[in-house]
Amino acid sequence: MSHPTDTPTVPAPAPIGDAPSRYFVTSFGCQMNVYDGERMGEMLSAQGMQAAATREEADLVILNTCHIREKAVARVYSDIGRLKREDGSKPMIAVAGCVAQAEGEEIARRARSVDIVVGPQAYHRLPQLIEQARTGQPAIDTDMPAVTKFGALPARTKQPRPTAFLTVQEGCDKFCTYCVVPYTRGAEISRPFADLVDEAKALVDGGVREITLLGQNVNAWAGTDGKGRPQGLDGLIEVLAELPGLERIRYTTSHPNDMTDGLIAAHRDIDKLMPYLHLPVQSGSDRILKAMNRSHNAASYLAIIDKVRRSRPDIALSGDFIVGFPGETEADFEATLDIVRAANYAQAYSFKYSPRPGTPAADMEDQISAQIMDERLQRLQELLGAQQHAFNAATVGKRTRVLLERQGRKDGQLVGKSPWLQSVHVIDPAARLGDLIDVEIVSAGPNSLEGLSLQLVTA
Ligand code: SAH
Ligand code: SF4
Ligand code: F3S
Repeated sequence: MSHPTDTPTVPAPAPIGDAPSRYFVTSFGCQMNVYDGERMGEMLSAQGMQAAATREEADLVILNTCHIREKAVARVYSDIGRLKREDGSKPMIAVAGCVAQAEGEEIARRARSVDIVVGPQAYHRLPQLIEQARTGQPAIDTDMPAVTKFGALPARTKQPRPTAFLTVQEGCDKFCTYCVVPYTRGAEISRPFADLVDEAKALVDGGVREITLLGQNVNAWAGTDGKGRPQGLDGLIEVLAELPGLERIRYTTSHPNDMTDGLIAAHRDIDKLMPYLHLPVQSGSDRILKAMNRSHNAASYLAIIDKVRRSRPDIALSGDFIVGFPGETEADFEATLDIVRAANYAQAYSFKYSPRPGTPAADMEDQISAQIMDERLQRLQELLGAQQHAFNAATVGKRTRVLLERQGRKDGQLVGKSPWLQSVHVIDPAARLGDLIDVEIVSAGPNSLEGLSLQLVTA
């Protein structure tokens, strides 16, 4: 609001567009974007807006974007184009997330229909940006304020699912030479211990039974507990595990260098901490790891895996891989296949290297051709796929516990997750979403399992 008496200079232009009343958020990229998207939605709902069931019904569409690979970015621009309606009108369009941070004003120049550009550390200011956009001027905010957004966001509300994400750490100081995250998410910050316990409690009160703690380097989380003692992620997990009603705890993504003995021991000592570890290695070649600035080598990575397995023998290991990093030879790539064989993954993600503007690797010599990358990716994925299938097949005949998360495609079918994060399909007319049930695994495919319901454990 402008007050003529205390603003003798140029008054802010009055809004000319209608205030949007129904929003729709689409999140791309990593789980942290999913978390951010949910918090944006909860904030707009707290402001009196409503969530639209579809994009078409919304008068504010937020594209919460990912900048990690070139393809992800191209997707944003094609999505913006598709938001135009048949009658020529369009909703208010906000580009949020990592593309917003990386490209800033450039987005509004390239795509004139964009009304708001807001970075991942500034989205608590969306209500003001919406007001500004109503004046017809693009509203752009890619600040990384010293005071984080978390304190400005409303408390968590009842969740639609029995599982939820909780960002505990954000940003990255590691600067792998291929990666945009240190630039788009900023420096590493850890959220305060007490705030995280409060948010976890609010999630559990709202019906959540499994929490996945999130961070770009989640195991770098550090804080001080209620008694003034310094704590790492294991200390936080220990306290969260005491929350009644919370049944399962997971965390992702970890960096090998922050895999402390305390966290490894937590996998042995804390029942609610699930036996699953996502620990990216990227490459098995020490030469390439060095060029990537990963600050670990193949042997140190395998030594960590070994320690983790001694602490929790049934742990399901997951990882990320990049093929075709500049200078990668056939021998380097074979070292990657070797480390995959040695580590033995239950599940993994693998990508073709994508040169990202502003990262050191984009300017390195000896960029690898698309054809070689395709061929290497295929070989790697065959191996990883076979390992995943074998891991799944090894669970056939076992009895395990499943947290039911969603309806399946077949009549009466429910889908949940095993402790090892496998999707398990079951038919149990007595069970409901959010229940933990005991099942016997009766068959396994490459991507999911079939379970026979034995009994309801907790409702
Ligand atoms: N902080 C996490 C993951 C960040 S991004 C970590 O360090 O493990 C998720 C994954 O995307 C990375 O692990 C990497 O495998 C992949 N990635 C990142 N930048 C990439 C690029 N330029 N090209 C291809 N894949 C990339
Ligand atoms: Fe990117 Fe490396 Fe940081 Fe992971 S650790 S976010 S790959 S710079
Ligand atoms: Fe993508 Fe940003 Fe996540 S670049 S992977 S959305 S941190």
